[in-house]
Amino acid sequence: MKVGVFDSGIGGLTVVKSLLEHQLFEEIIYFGDTARVPYGSKDKSTIIRYGIEAVEFFKNFELDMIIVACNSVSAYALKEMQESATCPVIGVVEAGVLATANAMSNKESNILVIGTNATIHSQAYDLGLRAHNFTQVEAKATPLFVPLVEEEIFDGTILDATLQHYFKDITPPNALILGCTHFPLLKESLSLYFGEDTKLIHSGDAIVEYLENRFDFYKQYKKPTLKFFASENPEALRQIAKKWLNV
Ligand code: DGL
Repeated sequence: MKVGVFDSGIGGLTVVKSLLEHQLFEEIIYFGDTARVPYGSKDKSTIIRYGIEAVEFFKNFELDMIIVACNSVSAYALKEMQESATCPVIGVVEAGVLATANAMSNKESNILVIGTNATIHSQAYDLGLRAHNFTQVEAKATPLFVPLVEEEIFDGTILDATLQHYFKDITPPNALILGCTHFPLLKESLSLYFGEDTKLIHSGDAIVEYLENRFDFYKQYKKPTLKFFASENPEALRQIAKKWLNV
């Protein structure tokens, strides 16, 4: 199995990390659109155009599947990408909704979704969760977390102030959906802030659960081939990948 993983930038490496941990693919081709990140502040038509361009890029590789690691793209452009691709295109939003539905048996659980402006304005998570009969869903755009993660600020005073800024009036939810590629890198701090009773839903783990439930993976690839591409400064992306993924 050969998979393409697409993100607006470096954040999708959190999804690659989960794929590597579960040894699902023989070859992983990562494309980060680092020249045009962030997507989360862009409008729907721009995000759709970028998504289709990513599909065109991946046509060079004869892939078995494309995983859209970017929540903003999954929320706005999945259908258009599926229409222009010749292989299945899977997004993290549907996977995250299903992972939440599997994890939370009580339909009255309080669920908080956090993500970029694009993801939150799309209401993709809210609609998906409501279709699974969840009644207590709140969604909040928390875009400041993105540059903090890019600066590798995972804890400390700036992050604490940002957590306060966004969440001071919010009661700890039963589940917190990390609806942005970057947020899994803040999971310790988010867990500390909300307390251990809040279940965190991580896009990477959700995608793995989704794939394992829907596709037949019969091989475990201990050392998959990894290729990293970026629309700007691919070397910087490769260095971060080495550090975050230990490869
Ligand atoms: N990858 C984006 C997402 O998951 C976050 C960064 C961006 O705004 O491009 O929504």
